[in-house]
Amino acid sequence: MKINGGIPLKGTVKTQGAKNAALPVMAVCLLLRGETLTLDNVPDLYDINTMIELLRALGVEVQVNDSRAVFNVPDELKWEAPESLVRKMRASSLVLGPLLANFGRVSLPLPGGCSIGSRPIDLHLKGLKQMGAEIDIQDGVVHASIKGRLRGRRIYLDFPSVGATENLMMAASLAQGETIIENIAREPEIDNLAATLRCIGVPVELEGTGGVRIQGIHRGHSGRERVIPDRIEACTYILAGVMTNGHIRVEDVVPSHIDAILAKLEEAGAKFSVRRNVIEIFPSKKKLHPVSIKTMPYPGFPTDSQPQMAAALSLSRGVSTIEESVFQARFLYAQELNRMGADIQISRDVAVMVEKLHGAGVKATDLRAGAALIIAGLAAEGETRVDDMVHVWRGYEAIDQKLRALGAQVELV
Ligand code: EPZ
Repeated sequence: MKINGGIPLKGTVKTQGAKNAALPVMAVCLLLRGETLTLDNVPDLYDINTMIELLRALGVEVQVNDSRAVFNVPDELKWEAPESLVRKMRASSLVLGPLLANFGRVSLPLPGGCSIGSRPIDLHLKGLKQMGAEIDIQDGVVHASIKGRLRGRRIYLDFPSVGATENLMMAASLAQGETIIENIAREPEIDNLAATLRCIGVPVELEGTGGVRIQGIHRGHSGRERVIPDRIEACTYILAGVMTNGHIRVEDVVPSHIDAILAKLEEAGAKFSVRRNVIEIFPSKKKLHPVSIKTMPYPGFPTDSQPQMAAALSLSRGVSTIEESVFQARFLYAQELNRMGADIQISRDVAVMVEKLHGAGVKATDLRAGAALIIAGLAAEGETRVDDMVHVWRGYEAIDQKLRALGAQVELV
């Protein structure tokens, strides 16, 4: 993507359905037999299309028109996930729990690592084992099976892993008896999953103490649910408005989903208003103040907005620090931002120094790093070229069109 920076953004942008909510709620269809799951507000993204291909490869009939997806599930499904599709996306691991619970067996190639660290699924497998599953890993393929039904029980998650929470909630839905999972992830995507399980007849109670209680059922029925707005995409546009000193409205946002970001932006002196489901960014005479950030599981500062925030803080007036506590290595973008004039030093955590950004040729190393480089290019003087846009298309629907609608000079070359 080629970007001519330095233009304050103006206008309105509407968020897409959340990628990280749509992926697990689509996998819910694997809990059904001979029934239909309908989802609204499904975004049009590479990763969503990969999940649709994977579900089709397993035997589900999927129709998508506009942002509505209908999943017709036959009485029998395949239980082997094709390697080619699984390698494209770690979220493929989300078919483990539902397939095992519904059909008693599943074979899934282990997801590979990626540029933000190794992506083990040991917590997913540990929980499934505790529910009675036989787990065998051969040549990088997980073979899971259970005679009869999984058994509901109390499970404690060593870490509030989003994927492990989602897999185990889906597995518990068809297990024998009650399952209580403690120390679950509290991301809004988990509430969206709970609502989708309820819509097919699974009694799910989320408890304020960070636990969830699920009564296993014999057979789910057809249902319909809506995907929540994408909080990470919303933050990307909010930061683009702040960094270009523009005046924009970001619509279809749930403000409580982005409390941590808004609090940090307020602390840094950004000017914005919050009304029902619209965040309005106003131009501000002053540069952002430096802030310190530590990424944490929700409701802490989200790791998925960390690269974008580093780009914004590259324009601040002093030294900010960012500590990434969720993933092992999520700073690959820093060297790319430094090519644009930022002065980011990686020690145990990241110090972001003050600089003006200038255009440069940079590479997207993962999807959120790509987003950070794009918004840095919007704010930088001169021309920026962001290569390897394939990462960005995994999570940002029509980002070039949305930015042009906000007055940005961007084109795909
Ligand atoms: C989800 O990944 C998101 N992906 C990620 O978004 C997001 O960064 C992450 O949650 C944290 O919020 C989807 O929802 C599809 P985790 P997930 O399990 O489920 C370790 C994006 O940019 N871990 O909470 O993989 C793991 O290595 C993507 O949209 C284990 O050690 O996140 C990581 O360090 C990137 N063992 C940490 O926990 C396990 O069994 C958080 O992982 C599972 C996880």
